[in-house]
Amino acid sequence: MNDAVRAEGVGVSFQGVRALDAVDLELRRGEILGLIGPNGAGKTTLVNTLSGYQTPTTGRIHVDGRDVTRWSPERRARAGLVRTFQAVRLFPELSVLDNVALGVLAGGGRRKAARAEAMDLLATARLEQWAHHAAASMPYGAERRLGIMRALATRPHYLLLDEPAAGLNDRETDELTAVLERMPAEHGVGLLVIEHDMKLIMGVCHRIHVLDYGRTLAVGSPSEVRADPAVRRAYYGEAEEGNHARGA
Ligand SMILES: Nc1ncnc2c1ncn2[C@@H]1O[C@H](COP(=O)(O)OP(=O)(O)O)[C@@H](O)[C@H]1O
Ligand SMILES: [Mg+2]
Repeated sequence: MNDAVRAEGVGVSFQGVRALDAVDLELRRGEILGLIGPNGAGKTTLVNTLSGYQTPTTGRIHVDGRDVTRWSPERRARAGLVRTFQAVRLFPELSVLDNVALGVLAGGGRRKAARAEAMDLLATARLEQWAHHAAASMPYGAERRLGIMRALATRPHYLLLDEPAAGLNDRETDELTAVLERMPAEHGVGLLVIEHDMKLIMGVCHRIHVLDYGRTLAVGSPSEVRADPAVRRAYYGEAEEGNHARGA
């Protein structure tokens, strides 16, 4: 089975500080993989390395069996591996619809069909009512979903999301959760989601990969990870007798 993004033995050092150490990670098409761990665990560095914004000190990255370790982010995106950024990069004066239509075109979609496809994507994200407004006029939560839809419009096989719910209120987080949940089935995409919101992670992820101090602590289903003693100690800061808890 080659339909996956695979990190093998990935290590990243910053001036002697080891941010990642021999990490193996697999993201399959059609799944939602949660990437969690305390602050500084190496989550963003791993997503940067997968997407080509960080060159690993050791190890390889494969996409569908091809070694992309030396590929630029743009070339990886053309191979189907796309990431979003915490700060949404939109064209603020363009309409919401045109922002997504540009994503469709960037992904090789046909000009004639681009707006219709963009409208379908907006409907998926419950953003139809914003279609003809300027992107800059949207509220925060809607703008976040727009950023994700624009990335989805390029038809990625794998989409990496770094803290998509950061700064959203409970209602906006629920709306985002509903959109993320449907993406694998409706678009055949594999999602990697970094998130601190445990309700979101435990609710939508098929599998969860836990990092701590740059190493893999556990990989498994939400219930397996939740029950894992090492995860409870490191991530939830649950103290054993005589141990000091470390906050997430
Ligand atoms: N560009 C950088 N230069 C130096 N150290 C960095 C850099 N980026 C991240 N780090 C360090 O690498 C470790 C992992 O950081 P990061 O990947 O941002 O963790 P997380 O996303 O899990 O909070 C931290 O110790 C952080 O300080
Ligand atoms: Mg981070």
